[in-house]
Amino acid sequence: MELVSFVHQRTMEYLDTVTKAERKAIGQFFTPVQIAEFMGELSDSHKETVRILDPGAGSGILSAALIEQLNRQTIKTIQLDLYENNRSIVPLLEKNLEYIKEWASVHGVILSYRIFTDNFITENKFAWTGLLQNNKYDIVIANPPYRKISKNAPEALVMREIVYGQPNLYFLFMAMGARLLNAGGEFIYIVPRSFSSGLYFTAFRKWFLDEMQITNLHLFLSREAVSGFDSILQETVILRAVKSSQRPAYIKITETEDANGFDNITEFSVPYSTCVRQDGDSFLFFPSCRNDVEVLSFINHWDYTLTDLGYKMKTGIVVDFRETQWLREKVDVDTIPLLWAYNFENNRIRFPRSSPGKPQYLLSTSDTRRLQMKVDNYLLIKRFTSKEERKRLQCALLFKDDFASYESISTENHLNFITRMDGTDLSNEELHGLFVILNSSYMDRYFRILNGSTQVNANEINAIPFPAHSEITQLGKEAMQYHVLDEAACDTILEKKYTNALLCQAI
Ligand SMILES: C[S@@+](CC[C@H](N)C(=O)[O-])C[C@H]1O[C@@H](n2cnc3c(N)ncnc32)[C@H](O)[C@@H]1O
Repeated sequence: MELVSFVHQRTMEYLDTVTKAERKAIGQFFTPVQIAEFMGELSDSHKETVRILDPGAGSGILSAALIEQLNRQTIKTIQLDLYENNRSIVPLLEKNLEYIKEWASVHGVILSYRIFTDNFITENKFAWTGLLQNNKYDIVIANPPYRKISKNAPEALVMREIVYGQPNLYFLFMAMGARLLNAGGEFIYIVPRSFSSGLYFTAFRKWFLDEMQITNLHLFLSREAVSGFDSILQETVILRAVKSSQRPAYIKITETEDANGFDNITEFSVPYSTCVRQDGDSFLFFPSCRNDVEVLSFINHWDYTLTDLGYKMKTGIVVDFRETQWLREKVDVDTIPLLWAYNFENNRIRFPRSSPGKPQYLLSTSDTRRLQMKVDNYLLIKRFTSKEERKRLQCALLFKDDFASYESISTENHLNFITRMDGTDLSNEELHGLFVILNSSYMDRYFRILNGSTQVNANEINAIPFPAHSEITQLGKEAMQYHVLDEAACDTILEKKYTNALLCQAI
């Protein structure tokens, strides 16, 4: 039996002996056979001697896959280091490695291996700080543990330069793996895609994209969870990168429906700069078809961000369970409107709404000044949508004239709002112009390519490209002529203004 199938079979037997909850607590999910094989085949090594690192090795399936691949090339000697700190799986890992060593020997390859039962991150802390020689490996291959840890956890303290907020072990494993590579070394990981845009990952992203050049991305299109893998593949990417300062011209993107779809793989190449934005945020984009590439080129050609233009998206102010004493179900002389995502209706705000559990008013007192906003035009966007919903960016126009009878208004925390940073009013043209952009299918698609999750974070919207102020107001003027300003109308207005042939085919 070939190596990967052998390891897989034994892993399945191991799965019967531990509960899913036990594995989840330590971030232990096993890579399915086809994914492991695909990851192994991503290696382009043609050396005779290689040093491999497999951090968070589990039962060793990724090493098995890589060794099978190297065996198809010119390999003669392999030195393999594996890290696995879960004592329950180490006996299986040892047995599998013995089998792999014998298999290699039958194929004329000398394999020596070491299993470290220590914590991969803390054990390599001196390599991270540079106190020890840190370039050791030619290839690192991993499916790292997915687990949030505290920002004071030992692992986070070791790598504090790239930690901001609450870190997740998976990106610390990415950074440490990259650090331990030789120049020209290969990095092959399957990881959640959340690191590509989130604010908490910015320091890591910058560090990683400076050190490493991405050559391949693999995306999964199906939303279905894959049995045995315990996670939704659509939120996962396979990444191959090389430790080098030389930027490749293109990134090769491959896609399958799911973990079983590798017989039906599609591929295309995308200019490096389309996938990796070289600015303060270092966003990484995962386009899944040519149309996505066109949407990226279109939106990325805009030179400004909301903050450059003097606008800011902020998060709704009232966290309801913290402010219950100030919330009111009924209007009174001293109440002001409290707007929820629940008040969105056809891109407008319907207020008040009968709303069990969503009090529509806030008591206006000196204690609640901090929760109040001036009555103005605002563009509102829901912070959370469900996976099944067609649109990720769900916007509503809030007109100050509709609330002119109130001294102020307030917003609940499940929505975001755009306002002007200098405190002056948002004009009707600006409001409509921003709406045209954010409510268009182009921006919705752009946002999905950027962000695999269903959350719309204010800091991400503040960093995405927008056109110049004069163009926003022109779009707004045009939009104000429309009776029905839905997504199709917003697309039409954009297409008319940016009569870019590519854009017209983009969606
Ligand atoms: C997602 S699993 C992947 C296992 C295997 N590489 C595979 O692809 O099937 C991650 C593994 O990392 C191990 N692990 C978690 N934290 C670790 C740490 N700090 N140091 C070493 N191993 C760790 C877990 O026990 C788990 O077996």
